[in-house]
Amino acid sequence: MEVKLDRKWWKESVVYQIYPRSFKDSNGDGIGDLKGITQKLDYLKELGVDVIWLSPVYQSPNDDNGYDISDYQSIMKEFGTMKDFDEMLSAAHDRGLKIVMDLVVNHTSDEHPWFVESRKSKENPYRDYYIWREGKNGKEPNNWGSCFSGSAWMYDEETKMYYLHLFSKKQPDLNWDNKAVRTEIYRMMNWWLDKGIDGFRMDVISLISKNSEFPDGEEGVNGYASFNEAANGPHVHEYLQEMRQNVLDRADTLTVGECSGVTLEEAMKYARKDEKELNMVFQFEHMDVDADGNNKWTDKKIDLRELKAVLTKWQKGLEETAWNSLYWENHDQPRSVSRYGNDSEAYWELSAKMLATCLHMMQGTPYIYQGEELGMTNAPFDKIEDFRDLDSVNAYYELLEKGVFEKEQMLKYLRYKSRDNARTPFQWDNSKNAGFTDGEPWIMVNPNYKTINAKEQMERKDSVFSYYQELIRLRKKHPIIVYGRYDLLLPEDRELYVYTRTLGREQLLVICNFSCNERTFPLPEAFAKASDLVKIIGNYCDCAIEQNMRIRAYEAIVLQCNASASDE
Ligand code: GLC
Ligand code: CA
Repeated sequence: MEVKLDRKWWKESVVYQIYPRSFKDSNGDGIGDLKGITQKLDYLKELGVDVIWLSPVYQSPNDDNGYDISDYQSIMKEFGTMKDFDEMLSAAHDRGLKIVMDLVVNHTSDEHPWFVESRKSKENPYRDYYIWREGKNGKEPNNWGSCFSGSAWMYDEETKMYYLHLFSKKQPDLNWDNKAVRTEIYRMMNWWLDKGIDGFRMDVISLISKNSEFPDGEEGVNGYASFNEAANGPHVHEYLQEMRQNVLDRADTLTVGECSGVTLEEAMKYARKDEKELNMVFQFEHMDVDADGNNKWTDKKIDLRELKAVLTKWQKGLEETAWNSLYWENHDQPRSVSRYGNDSEAYWELSAKMLATCLHMMQGTPYIYQGEELGMTNAPFDKIEDFRDLDSVNAYYELLEKGVFEKEQMLKYLRYKSRDNARTPFQWDNSKNAGFTDGEPWIMVNPNYKTINAKEQMERKDSVFSYYQELIRLRKKHPIIVYGRYDLLLPEDRELYVYTRTLGREQLLVICNFSCNERTFPLPEAFAKASDLVKIIGNYCDCAIEQNMRIRAYEAIVLQCNASASDE
């Protein structure tokens, strides 16, 4: 039976995210840079990924580590020069690696010339590039909170009005309803495409179109409504379609929208199959499974049944109509092995491989965040001064001041959930500072680099790194891993995540144990009857295929078979 596949290179690719500040420092100033990335391209080639997503490298005062851009067409001084960028891009292309840029256009830095002008006077030609409102009864225009604590509105003395900033007050939101803003952005995007870049990861793109009425939202623990009140606004799809026509249609790009507050229904529009908008979105529901409502500051552990329900909803929901992106980690999330796995000595390696199996065998384009392929863990931050991330630091002071949490409790939550866990330097080897820098690193190095590092793992066949290499190789070999249909088994099991993939007569059975308990699992009929059952990957080398499978602590195994003739 021939199966007709809707083949696309961006579905068959594996994307690797680089957070440049923490990847590799080439000049000893303690900050990762573009030359450092160029030096390490062979490492990525060795891993086998196809596409690199670069977190922002543009000029920025770094209030939010580059997500506050003051010039979209220059490179951040600490990261190097435009020449370094061009060299990196061509060195990547020489190796067959594509480069996807972070596009941060919901907001700019307050030091961007547009905003410098905009705040000068109500008549300034750039005034309408941003969102200005009068206060209401001597207070902010509405109750929206910034994602990074406090109100989303900042009062500006100069013109005695408020501007909107869904993120820090140094990240004023652009006014996408102004045609001139959109034209400037499309021009800038085209300029990057002309340079030869291969696509865009679009920062909080679901927030660009605001409801001009600015209605109040429901209050959370800090007394403000979530910034997600702005999600999926009235014109967002219209603007993305316009962007597609004015920019994206010119090239064969990979586009992924970071879609805070996205629902399945909305995702089907953003990531629609006819490519009128984006190729895929990052949804957040599986990141919220261990949150406490809108409050992420807790050490609540995931309930596997909920995690499975959410991921299954997205797998089945976008089947045939759109496309999923698959991720456990990025620069905004703690380390997955410490969160969904088990980072104790006995289990970190097994559970890192198990999580990789569970994710990479699903339908969608997988994203690997730097260090995830080594099983890098959360860091033992000791005190608030160890943290660099403004989200973590602001939340600490705000929630302490409001009496929501005690100091030790809040530190415990930060250690578990802070974005800085993902931002400690990449662990290259066991030399000083993990081989990241000769200087003083901008953020602490995780002391476990002596045992967890790339050099050690590249030399070892059963390392987490080698396991990722194998997962990537398998994806290139078996179209079923990219295109097969996903179906969940055992939805109510609290420890085992089991699903099948089906493409024509071929089937995969993916079994992942999210616990340290040993279990048994009777093979489903199609597999039990199959004469050609083989294991294609697993994290225990001595796994026996039996009718009643024995599944050990954090075990992951993938079995493949062809449906028997009688099933046809
Ligand atoms: C996105 C980025 C995050 C940043 C925020 C504001 O969520 O991933 O790092 O802080 O947008 O740009
Ligand atoms: Ca540097």
